[in-house]
Amino acid sequence: MKNHTVLFVDDEANILKALKRLLRHEPFEVLTATSASEALEQLQRFDIQVVISDQRMPEMSGADFLSRIRERHPETIRMMLTGYTEIDVAVEAINRGEIFRLITKPWNEDELKSSLRQAIDHFQMKQEIKRLNQVSREQNFKLQDMNRNLEDKVRERTHQVDQKNRDLRKGYIQTIRALAEAIDAKDAYTRGHSERVAVYASRLARELNLDKKMIERVYFSGLLHDVGKIGIPDAIISKPARLTEMEYEEIKRHPEIGAKILEPIEFLSNIAPCVRHHHEWFDGSSRGYPDRLAGNKIPLPSRIILVADTVEAMTSDRPYRKGLPMTVVIDELAKFSGRQFDPTIVDAFMRLLEQEGDEFLSKDEKFDIDAFIDG
Ligand SMILES: [Fe+2]
Ligand SMILES: [Fe+2]
Repeated sequence: MKNHTVLFVDDEANILKALKRLLRHEPFEVLTATSASEALEQLQRFDIQVVISDQRMPEMSGADFLSRIRERHPETIRMMLTGYTEIDVAVEAINRGEIFRLITKPWNEDELKSSLRQAIDHFQMKQEIKRLNQVSREQNFKLQDMNRNLEDKVRERTHQVDQKNRDLRKGYIQTIRALAEAIDAKDAYTRGHSERVAVYASRLARELNLDKKMIERVYFSGLLHDVGKIGIPDAIISKPARLTEMEYEEIKRHPEIGAKILEPIEFLSNIAPCVRHHHEWFDGSSRGYPDRLAGNKIPLPSRIILVADTVEAMTSDRPYRKGLPMTVVIDELAKFSGRQFDPTIVDAFMRLLEQEGDEFLSKDEKFDIDAFIDG
């Protein structure tokens, strides 16, 4: 069983006979036709890879015949067998890209055989290229499809993750607020203290041009700065009179207790040091606690909170006194700037006060940290 078939077209029967005999041992089938119309019929019926046509035929010239084949069977390899007298026609056909090769009559047997083999190789190569093109086209389509699906999936997942993060964040904020409220609830006089300290502190943080993450951290630290008071006896916290030395020592434990409460909570663990150090003095003096840190060894949120805390405490009513006027607050901050307070934060507070006046202290009931950060 031979895999390929070549078709010779010539009006001279003995030429065809000679060709058939010459090629009987070649690894391809040889068909013959004595006219263009017979050849076209054969091409309809059989799978023919190579057509070799004579140029001078009565019914139709070889060149015309081959260009017809080019239209109807574009994959077939076309060759021309021609005498020297018709060489110009054949060369023109080659130049027009109509034929693969030219064989002259009388032919050289080896040359003819090798031309036919090359024609078949050429056919196979063209088929292979076509097949590969097809495969790569299909794979491209598949890839495009996969990409589209992947993009959709990624978009969808990103959306879900965003939503989850938003939900989680809401949950965190609610948890933190609940904690803060629990602290303030211990004493009627300090109700709302933590929330207000948090708001003042985040305003200071924004005035200091801190980034969103830091402002948020300052806000949460503010909400939780006194969380350790949960561990201090109510009798001391809400004592309407001056504290004794011992009671004061007891109160001073609240930053440490607060940090210990927050440390094990993963999403609050970076708040813990800010809570721990919110009563340190900027000059590192012994009046600060618990670690007597100084300057920028004190976490920035702690330094901010200390100012906010002082302002809030001084301007709020206490069982033993009314809220103090802003001038007293300003004097206090100025007096202790560089000693208890970080001067850059005191300066930021003064700037805010200048810009906003007492508006700065307006009790913003529904402070929205997200809107604040984005605003
Ligand atoms: Fe405190
Ligand atoms: Fe406080």
